[in-house]
Amino acid sequence: MSGEEGPAQQQEPEQVKKPDEPPPAEAAEAKPESSSSSPAAAEEEQPISYRALVLTGYGGYDKIKLQVKSMKKSQLKAGEVLVRVKACGLNFAELLGRQGLYDLLPAPPVTMGMEGSGVIEAVAEDVTDRKVGDRVIAMKRHGMWQEVAVVPANRTFPIPEAMSFEEAAALPINYMTAYMMLFEMANLRPGKSVLIHMAAGGVGIAATQLCQTVQDVTIFGTASASKHETISQGGVTHPIDYRTKDYVTEIRKINPKGVDIVLDPLGGADTQKGFGLLKPLGMLIVFGTANCVTGQKKNLLAMAKTWYNQLTLNTLKLMQTNKAIAGFHLGYITDEELFERTLVKLMELYQQGKIKPRIDSCYHFEEVTEAMKRMHDRQNIGKVILIPEPKKSEEKPQSNTEEAENVGENEAAVSDQKEEAAVEVEAEKD
Ligand SMILES: NC(=O)c1ccc[n+]([C@@H]2O[C@H](COP(=O)([O-])OP(=O)(O)OC[C@H]3O[C@@H](n4cnc5c(N)ncnc54)[C@H](OP(=O)(O)O)[C@@H]3O)[C@@H](O)[C@H]2O)c1
Repeated sequence: MSGEEGPAQQQEPEQVKKPDEPPPAEAAEAKPESSSSSPAAAEEEQPISYRALVLTGYGGYDKIKLQVKSMKKSQLKAGEVLVRVKACGLNFAELLGRQGLYDLLPAPPVTMGMEGSGVIEAVAEDVTDRKVGDRVIAMKRHGMWQEVAVVPANRTFPIPEAMSFEEAAALPINYMTAYMMLFEMANLRPGKSVLIHMAAGGVGIAATQLCQTVQDVTIFGTASASKHETISQGGVTHPIDYRTKDYVTEIRKINPKGVDIVLDPLGGADTQKGFGLLKPLGMLIVFGTANCVTGQKKNLLAMAKTWYNQLTLNTLKLMQTNKAIAGFHLGYITDEELFERTLVKLMELYQQGKIKPRIDSCYHFEEVTEAMKRMHDRQNIGKVILIPEPKKSEEKPQSNTEEAENVGENEAAVSDQKEEAAVEVEAEKD
């Protein structure tokens, strides 16, 4: 743990404060009638203190604070498990969330984080398909960026022995998003062509790997130039530097008729371009608004521009062009069966060696500013991971060191960032 039990013990347990968590009375009702004198019951009543990354207000990096909280195992409700978190995923949605642009994140103060991996440390009485010691992926709408997290058992998924905690934390959101878009919506088949924007990012790499599970798929991928060698090796057929070239022109030079599927995480003018690039019977899937984000603070001009340039057309036009437009948001998928089926399929593909999350870098909770900055600065190739375990003083951030050139650049960037880092470890004030 954090070694900061002193202040933690003066705090209210997180569960008491959050509307979606059980008030103590309910939690007590959910518990079996155990004898309070037994050692197990006594252990459950012992407060556990833990560190959490809390969004304290909307804005820049300084709005995320590392705080110490406490809870009791006895607060587990029916159907819940307690997970000791080993690794968490950082998603673009959290950059949006910090700026107040992600509608599924409750208002601050709120612990961030939608995905992670770890070991089950306690289970509610009625949970029979998970047990203490299981290694799992865990998902929540928010609240995964903490050392221990209470999660519904049906949002935990066992992971294979060979899968590291970092890989497990990198997989769910990126791969489920890519899988559902490509296979449930766009019905990707052999011989098709796909445009993947942000192709070197978490979802981009997942989508590239999944496209390769189908024969003869041509992948156009936009990414910053320094990442092209890596994404080509990863399976992108035609990498395009969107910063210096018009990707529409580049694609038309190769495929004059355009592409069959466009995955659009950008919004605004890029949605219009994507629609224009579709072949007849093609599908554009809108799943993000990255164009609204230009740096650590909210940019109203970029938001207005994205909104102003968004694609608007009537259904008659859609009919006359023989094209399809779809929207996708994993956060609004409520079909638990689809959720589970997709993760089972992804685990199979992982076991078969067909997919493998690429970890860009791992940062301890104390380094959340550097982690977010890496994404804002468009440096990541693959997934950025947050590690709850406290940083040892001599440790450096662990970046993927496959490319000597990139490593040099990245280390310089990270050391610059350290001076700006303003993460605090402080006890939560009531
Ligand atoms: N709807 C859903 O359910 C769902 C689920 C997951 C993700 N998403 C969306 O998918 C997109 C990718 O998400 P991710 O988590 O995998 O992130 P990510 O792709 O790893 O994001 C970082 C990378 O995106 C590129 N990029 C493009 N525009 C950017 C901008 N305005 N600011 C910073 N980077 C930008 C940069 O690479 P290059 O410069 O090399 O392009 C950067 O390195 C996001 O739009 C996200 O909101 C949607």
